[in-house]
Amino acid sequence: MGVRILAINGSSRRESLNQKLLDIAVQGARDAGAEVTQARLADFDLPIYYGDLEAERGLPNGARKLQSLMEMHDALIIATPEYNGGYTALLKNAIDWISRPRGDGSSGVALMAGKVAALVSASPGPLGGLRSQTGMRAVLDKLGMLVIPQAFALGMAHEAFDAQGRLKDGNATRLVSGVGEALYRMALRLG
Ligand SMILES: Cc1cc2nc3c(=O)[nH]c(=O)nc-3n(C[C@H](O)[C@H](O)[C@H](O)COP(=O)(O)O)c2cc1C
Repeated sequence: MGVRILAINGSSRRESLNQKLLDIAVQGARDAGAEVTQARLADFDLPIYYGDLEAERGLPNGARKLQSLMEMHDALIIATPEYNGGYTALLKNAIDWISRPRGDGSSGVALMAGKVAALVSASPGPLGGLRSQTGMRAVLDKLGMLVIPQAFALGMAHEAFDAQGRLKDGNATRLVSGVGEALYRMALRLG
């Protein structure tokens, strides 16, 4: 069976720069041979997690669906935008819900542990969301994911794309595609 990759963006903004970057990494993974599913977090029913809500109502539908998606995929690629030096609440909230015990009592963390992950980020600032990647890398590491060293942070991202959503810099395109391809190859090797 081929390698299946789940792609998630920590911003659901319509003109998201991170989505444009993620699309290029996803294309790199597809060109290498991966089957990729893109999940838009705003399309999932995901209230902000707190324990009483979970105790009273169980997992929301969006959390169950995300857990099922994670179960069906071998690897995860995340575009992680930077808000105030860290990852976004949208992204962390989704991961927190996925990590909770499932309806049948089985582990949510186990859906992620032992799988491979890759990170990209984009920001209008000069560092391209690198601090968000550092934080997210630590979260995924805690969950037992293997985060590959290949990553890309796109600074001055508001000036980096043309009207068709392509990166103006061909070398950057090659590097971002390379993140998707490297994720595919690592998942294949560990498969
Ligand atoms: C609350 C907030 C905090 C932000 N903090 C940072 C930051 O610390 N570093 C940074 O590079 N960009 C920061 N930004 C700018 C975002 O990187 C920018 O809005 C980016 O376009 C968001 O990603 P998106 O285009 O995928 O939606 C912040 C934006 C918001 C709304």
